[in-house]
Amino acid sequence: MEVLKTIAEVRQWNKEKKAAGQEIGFVPTMGYLHEGHLSLVEAASRENGAVIMSIFVNPLQFGPQEDYANYPRDFARDCLLAESAGVDAIFAPEVAEMYPKYPQLTTVEVQKVTSRLCGASRPGHFTGVTTVVSKLFNIVQPNRAYFGQKDYQQVQVIKQMAEDLNMPWEIKTVPIKREGDGLALSSRNVYLNPAERKQALALSQALLMCKELYAQGERKSIVLIEAMQQRIRQEAKARIDYVEISDCRTLEPVTELSAPVVVALAVRIGKTRLIDNTILEGGETCTEL
Ligand code: PAJ
Repeated sequence: MEVLKTIAEVRQWNKEKKAAGQEIGFVPTMGYLHEGHLSLVEAASRENGAVIMSIFVNPLQFGPQEDYANYPRDFARDCLLAESAGVDAIFAPEVAEMYPKYPQLTTVEVQKVTSRLCGASRPGHFTGVTTVVSKLFNIVQPNRAYFGQKDYQQVQVIKQMAEDLNMPWEIKTVPIKREGDGLALSSRNVYLNPAERKQALALSQALLMCKELYAQGERKSIVLIEAMQQRIRQEAKARIDYVEISDCRTLEPVTELSAPVVVALAVRIGKTRLIDNTILEGGETCTEL
């Protein structure tokens, strides 16, 4: 596996792969890899001749009070995991390589789908994401790029950007990887102490409860949301950021469930903000919209 530190090296790598007739699958990450990230690599390896992963903790997508400085990093371990998962090259630039001038004068901003959910509770976050992902796309120029459903809104925002800006690469969505007990894998789970780790189960269990009520015929958002809120509030350290049921594509709130919807939540467990989601009705086609 090659470790590339500069944009010039990535452009050269890309040229060689394309000259050899290989298609390129791209997995953007902020590192501290876990099985969720590796499932994106697996999907990318299945569909492309060569796989490149970026590892870059992007300062632009963190708010001033957020965890940029403390975000977990372990580059040596990431390299071992990436290599054994079948990554051909890692692009791990320094901040100065990506942002010679910080903040740079140009940003990429998607309207509307960024206005609710994480966009409402993390102002500026998605502009940071779409700006860095645009830059990474322009550097890597992949055939396909892979994102996790774990960050459902992020995928919708990136798909909207790719469509509006005529980006030629395919944007693919990979299902959420979970621990055996249901907790969605996240680099931030490392922040949880044992008591918080138990309480963090409230997220996936609230979603499960919502699914069960839905299967029993409940179609009113307000009833489903209240049931989830109640489940989460049973945990002493849980503070709800949002619990919403939204249209799968526009992410506008729905009151009466008929079309496919995404049930999404963000909850602070102690100081750690966690997110999770599930799709109700026609899930497979929904994430492909
Ligand atoms: P990061 O949080 O490192 O996540 C990288 C990718 O892994 C994202 O597409 C995310 O949705 C996916 N992922 C994380 N946990 C997952 C899980 N449990 N199951 C499946 N996929 C999972 O998301 C980012 O980085 C950044 O915003 C980035 C897109 C790299 C831009 O900086």
